[in-house]
Amino acid sequence: MTRLHVISAATRPTSSGRPLAQWVTEQARAHGGFEVTPVDLAEIALPFLDEPEYASTGNYAHQHTRDWSALVDSADAFVFVLPMYNAGFTAPFKNAIDFLYREWAGKPVGIVSYSGGPSGGAPAAEMLKPVLNRVGLLPAERSIAIPGVPGLIGPEGFRAPEGLVGELTGVLDDVATLAAQRAAEPAAV
Ligand SMILES: Cc1cc2nc3c(=O)[nH]c(=O)nc-3n(C[C@H](O)[C@H](O)[C@H](O)COP(=O)(O)O)c2cc1C
Repeated sequence: MTRLHVISAATRPTSSGRPLAQWVTEQARAHGGFEVTPVDLAEIALPFLDEPEYASTGNYAHQHTRDWSALVDSADAFVFVLPMYNAGFTAPFKNAIDFLYREWAGKPVGIVSYSGGPSGGAPAAEMLKPVLNRVGLLPAERSIAIPGVPGLIGPEGFRAPEGLVGELTGVLDDVATLAAQRAAEPAAV
């Protein structure tokens, strides 16, 4: 079964991404074929990158890096639930990516971006693509951009607009396909 980590990239205590990521996690569990682990970047609470050596060496001086490495390493695939701040992705998320290197490589990722305004965070997702490419992550062909997310959060959690379940299913299908292709490849020696 594909081990899928749903990473909520926001760190604000009042993040509207948290209930959204919870909804994505539930949908991924319902999709089938995934063993889903929710990951909240606020709980991971990484400092700014403080490793003396490049991540590509895999030599980590700090326990927080070793813990983050083990968590990311244990995934076969990801969904990133990604807010847009000032027309881009967030600094804490870029920092969390930069902490590691090989742990990301060759793994599929589905992008669910969101924003307060009408873009749904699509510019942040676009800005992230070269970063994903650099660390060897494989973005799914389909992605989702959800506008006006703060207005979709109620006491019962995230209220998915009509059609969003289908769109997310498409992203999860793409991730599952890429993960199956990766699993079928001979292991690198
Ligand atoms: C620092 C900051 C900058 C933002 N910049 C934008 C923006 O450029 N465009 C937009 O549509 N929304 C913007 N927003 C609104 C967020 O996209 C929206 O509130 C989203 O829900 C934030 O995610 P979070 O609640 O998980 O932190 C910004 C919010 C913050 C905190």
